Amino acid sequence: MFLYYLAKPTVMGLNIIFVGCGNRAEHIAYNMRTLRNQGYDINIVGLADPDKSGRTRIAKLWELDDSVHFDSFEKAVSKIGKNANTVVNATPDDAHKDIAILAINSGYHMLLEKPMALNLKDCMEIIEAQNKSGKVLSVCHVLRYAPLFSTIKEEVAKGTIGMVTSMDLNEEVGHWHFVVSYAQNPMWNREPPIILSKSSHDLDILEYIIGKPAVALNSRAHLLQFKKENAPRNSTERCLDCPLHKEGTCIYDAVRRICPENYPNEVLKGKENQVIKEHFFMQKASPNDRSTEAKMTALKRTDYGRCAYKMNNTVPDTYHVMIEYEGGALANFMLTGHSPEATRRIKVYGTLGVIEGDLFSGDLELTKFNAMRGNTEPVKIEIKSKGGHGGGDIELIKDFVQQVENYDKGKKVDTRSSARRSLSSHVQAFAAEYSRLNGAIPINLAEFMKKG
Ligand SMILES: NC(=O)c1ccc[n+]([C@@H]2O[C@H](COP(=O)([O-])OP(=O)(O)OC[C@H]3O[C@@H](n4cnc5c(N)ncnc54)[C@H](O)[C@@H]3O)[C@@H](O)[C@H]2O)c1
Repeated sequence: MFLYYLAKPTVMGLNIIFVGCGNRAEHIAYNMRTLRNQGYDINIVGLADPDKSGRTRIAKLWELDDSVHFDSFEKAVSKIGKNANTVVNATPDDAHKDIAILAINSGYHMLLEKPMALNLKDCMEIIEAQNKSGKVLSVCHVLRYAPLFSTIKEEVAKGTIGMVTSMDLNEEVGHWHFVVSYAQNPMWNREPPIILSKSSHDLDILEYIIGKPAVALNSRAHLLQFKKENAPRNSTERCLDCPLHKEGTCIYDAVRRICPENYPNEVLKGKENQVIKEHFFMQKASPNDRSTEAKMTALKRTDYGRCAYKMNNTVPDTYHVMIEYEGGALANFMLTGHSPEATRRIKVYGTLGVIEGDLFSGDLELTKFNAMRGNTEPVKIEIKSKGGHGGGDIELIKDFVQQVENYDKGKKVDTRSSARRSLSSHVQAFAAEYSRLNGAIPINLAEFMKKG
């Protein structure tokens, strides 16, 4: 106890520069504020983004003064220097690598949004820089921390269902989420591939659960719905002018989704019969001003008011990957843009039973085989899964904070979603995209990695 007390003054807590202050950063800042209010030693000392609006939102949330604002990361680093020890890198995917290298070389720990980089060479560069620095680097593969998946992982590791022989994971993006985040979103409607930008989470969680390396895969993918030839007859470029909007007959009518207040007689009800006031994905259209006037302007001017079928989107809405793990177990991963909810459904098959779960509902069920009756009754496993990504978002931050504290105390550090651990999911995503673009050819992952 006494020794710990003596060592304590070296522990610095987290003094953070946020770089990239958009949606995701705001979400992380919100979770960090919750932890700070619970007594965690977390401070924000810099907000770096060329766009002021996100900085302003986070500064307001954290009650920060004007001194934290910077329009570039370089300026923040040169002004703040060693008064920060951590960077949250939540820039767009294609900016991750350069900022990550600058952050590591400037001596910071880093929470890096996934994907860490857009090609294998850049991922390796980040990992090598981090190996040299020895600082904490966590990739935001939040599903590793979601109680649903970590409980499945624990049961598998305990041997509850025997040897895992196969896994089935369906990533149900949600039909509206798919439109707003992919078909209409300029950040993601062409590059990087959805299997990297979205499903590196899924490739990661499958390997994490089985606890064996993926050795081979092949994949197929298609864009089946959101293309010009499928646009409804008579539809126009923008929803506001569209006859289908006036008739109220299009599922993807952005006007009704962004400005439901204009349609008081068309009360839209979702799960559990709650009235949907405004679909949260639609906040992307006008993030800083929620007034009807601002949203109507966004419908006229931004991509979020354009016909979902006419965006020249190239992102597949249907993506299948078949993966083989060391020892022969197989996994089937399917992404679909056509589902009522945004969720992930998983089923893990073992020689002694099956576990299945749903991230959105938090339902988790175990069925075991038994000698007398063939099967046990399915048993519900209770999990606490409140919050973003089934509770994974906040748990990831806790692990990160703990590892920074370990570093400050001179202990060995390695988070559950370190860059080293996240690498395989990136390799699998690059390989899956290569396979689907080359006639679903099988890829040996070790050889694929050697070729770079
Ligand atoms: N872990 C997850 O589950 C998860 C979920 C959503 C998004 N993400 C990732 O988070 C990242 C950010 O996504 P988002 O939805 O917040 O995007 P966003 O567009 O809302 O925010 C990105 C912000 O970065 C800023 N920016 C761009 N270039 C910059 C630069 N060079 N320096 C500083 N700031 C810069 C932009 O102005 C913008 O404010 C992406 O990599 C995305 O893939 C991860």
